[in-house]
Amino acid sequence: MNTLSRRWLLLVLLWSPVAWSAAPAQGSLASHPDGAAIASGHHLATEAGMEILTKGGNAFDAAVAVSSTLAVVEPISSGLGGGGFFLLHDAATGKDVMLDARETAPQAANEAAFLDSKGELDRDRSVNGPWSAGIPGLPAALVELSGKHGKLPLRTSLGPAIRIATEGFPVYARMAKGYASRREVMERYPGTREVYLRNGKPIAEGDVFRQPELAATLTRLADQGFDGFYRGQTGKALLAGVKQAGGSWSAEELAGYRVKLREPIVFNYRDWKITTASPPSSGGIALAAMLQILEGWDLKSMDEAHRTHLVVEAMRRAYRDRTFFLGDPDFVQIPQKVLTSKDYAQGLRATIHPEKATPSDLLSGNPTPLEDDETTHFSIIDRDGNRVGATQTVNLLYGSGLIPKGTGVLLNNEMDDFALKPGTPNAFGVMGYAANAPKPGKRMLSSMTPTFMESPDKVVVLGTPGGSRIITMVLLGILGYDDGLTAQQVAALPRYHHQWLPDEISAETGALSVDTIKQLQAMGHKIDLPGDSAEGGRGSSHVWGNLQTVEWDRRSNVLSGGSDPRNPVGSAAVSAAASR
Ligand code: GLY
Repeated sequence: MNTLSRRWLLLVLLWSPVAWSAAPAQGSLASHPDGAAIASGHHLATEAGMEILTKGGNAFDAAVAVSSTLAVVEPISSGLGGGGFFLLHDAATGKDVMLDARETAPQAANEAAFLDSKGELDRDRSVNGPWSAGIPGLPAALVELSGKHGKLPLRTSLGPAIRIATEGFPVYARMAKGYASRREVMERYPGTREVYLRNGKPIAEGDVFRQPELAATLTRLADQGFDGFYRGQTGKALLAGVKQAGGSWSAEELAGYRVKLREPIVFNYRDWKITTASPPSSGGIALAAMLQILEGWDLKSMDEAHRTHLVVEAMRRAYRDRTFFLGDPDFVQIPQKVLTSKDYAQGLRATIHPEKATPSDLLSGNPTPLEDDETTHFSIIDRDGNRVGATQTVNLLYGSGLIPKGTGVLLNNEMDDFALKPGTPNAFGVMGYAANAPKPGKRMLSSMTPTFMESPDKVVVLGTPGGSRIITMVLLGILGYDDGLTAQQVAALPRYHHQWLPDEISAETGALSVDTIKQLQAMGHKIDLPGDSAEGGRGSSHVWGNLQTVEWDRRSNVLSGGSDPRNPVGSAAVSAAASR
């Protein structure tokens, strides 16, 4: 048995995904969990977090371990070359904050930089290679998390990621399949070829994938903190690699990257206090609108068709507003108070017919961005009740495809989340507007929505990847918890989505019953079902998302985790042995 499989066996013996309980006296609520819970998109990342907890780390140290390990084992979804949002709850102070580690637009990347000689959007530039990449935020987030919130040295918390990058891990199907789909772009760049080709052949499922240069980059980050990535050897190699590939980043803007601390969006839905992502994520504001619209009805007593109709109508209205009002709050004025108010939601609710779909073109405006399906999320509760919900990304599969030579760092292609040419569809057939136009130093609008839910006796952390569908998946997850589902049931929930334009409900196979589909169609809804692409529809032949959630029931003091069954390498673990 090799080291990896021995370690895995040991961890399986130590941790169980089943709940751990040491119930408090009857009628009272536990003040802290009797263990810890982590759910993430790769079992090695979940294990890395548990390892750091057993070394005496808290949820924030564990988050550094999970996030950096995902950067190693899920390059398809996130990494040091990307960014993310980290929603943090400090149990000692009771405070919540969102650590915004979203990428920023480089100085050279204005709208003109993405137009070809005919003035059209240069699609290759916006999603492939150096121009598609924003200045990465994730390494700065790891330094901030460890230094300001953690108990262990950064070197310790980055230890599992460095070890796995050095020793390697088995390539899984999604990783190999994703590589095949991005191969042409990735193999343009010598730094990427060095990492992904073995004797000229691309990585294949089951290969052990080692990343010694990424291990060295992580080690410099561990030893030197911020400067270990944004300046010095790594910084220079990043600048040189971007330049060699035809792009343009300056040393000042790389070293000038800063994470931002943002106040989360907070609102109530029925018995739940919801704490969620604020701009430059669009998720929290959209969730507040949708849930406060839906609060006006008793969804639990409705048949599936009427419930789906009302949820879809709430989605439609929230996504319309997302298009016009949301962008980087440091650059655009967002009417956040209005958009998240109960009065505004009540007004929107009044425009919803209980039996009829509202055609989207009756709601003024133009199409909204549809984003990609990649990205990754993890959820953590530690034994003190600290929480982390983090969604991180490099945008599309394997980001820009560009690894600057000698760094092992795959750069994001997050620039495509900007509205690069107003009125012109991006890679996903969508438009963008002024609030989300690129400007030097600006953060591109995101849908990433890490979220906390708190009821009088429950605490939940949840989130998922999935582009613009992230927000509606989190919405369905919140409704699922409110219906009394378990964490694993919430992670497995079938999904449907509406984003105002295109004016259609898309749904996973089996998400809506035949009878519900018929009733929805009779109400005037268009439904894009798997297979429809053959008939001219977009089709929804793939499943969506990768929801990772943990729940703490304070009445029974039971911790549980839910890991999306759509992702065979994800895992949720609950530990009674983790230290505080
Ligand atoms: N790139 C996906 C998002 O930030 O929403």
